[in-house]
Amino acid sequence: MSRVVIFYGTTEGQTAKIAQHIADVGRNAGHQVDLQHAAELDPDFSLAPYDAAILGASVHEGRHQQYMVDLARGQARWLSDHPSAFFSVCLSIASDDPEERAEAQAIADHFTASVGWAPPHRTVVAGALRYSEYSWLKRMLMKRIAAKESGDTDTSRDYEYTDWEAVTAWAKHFYATLGEDRSRKQLVGRG
Ligand SMILES: Cc1cc2nc3c(=O)[nH]c(=O)nc-3n(C[C@H](O)[C@H](O)[C@H](O)COP(=O)(O)O)c2cc1C
Repeated sequence: MSRVVIFYGTTEGQTAKIAQHIADVGRNAGHQVDLQHAAELDPDFSLAPYDAAILGASVHEGRHQQYMVDLARGQARWLSDHPSAFFSVCLSIASDDPEERAEAQAIADHFTASVGWAPPHRTVVAGALRYSEYSWLKRMLMKRIAAKESGDTDTSRDYEYTDWEAVTAWAKHFYATLGEDRSRKQLVGRG
C-alpha cells in the first residue's frame, strides 16, 4: 500500500471528476489516496506523508491553471524525487485534426518543462463541453470552437469526451509501478 496524493486544477469540474475516478482506481488497488483541489490548498500543506503524487490540470485558452503551475514549480524537486504522474485535460486531444492533437500534447509538454518536472507518467485526456454551466459569452465562444472541432454545437446539452477506460488503464499502470518501486527499494535494502 502506498500513500498517494492527487492535486487537481479545474475550472468547470471535469478534471475534478477525472481526479476522483483516478482516486477510486487507486483505492480499489489498495492504496491510500487523498484528493485535493489545488485552488483550496492549505498554505502549510506538506508532501512529507506521501509516497507518490499525481497532478491534473485543465486547459483554457492554451494554458493550465496558474495555481497548478505554481504548485508544480514549487514542488518540482519533490515530484522529481518520487513516483509522480501528470494528466492534462482539454478538448483538442479529441479532435480529428492531427495538428490539434499535437498542440494538445505540446501544451502538456510546456506545462511540465516550464516547471522543471519530467513526470515519467503523463497523459492528455479529453474533457467535456459543459454548455449548461457556461456564461452566455463562454457558451458562444465554446460553440464557435466546437463548430470547428467536434461539431457538437447543440448548447441545450452537455458533451463528455473523456475515455474512462483509457483513464482507468493509465491510472492502473501508474499504481502498479508503485508496487514495483517498493519491491526494488526492499531488494536494495536487503542487498
Ligand atoms: C473558456 C474555455 C476555453 C477553453 N480553451 C481550450 C483550449 O485552448 N484548448 C483546449 O483543448 N480546450 C479548451 N477548453 C476545453 C476545456 O479544456 C475542457 O472543457 C475541459 O473539460 C475543462 O476541464 P475542467 O472542467 O476541469 O476545467 C476550453 C474551455 C473553455 C470553457
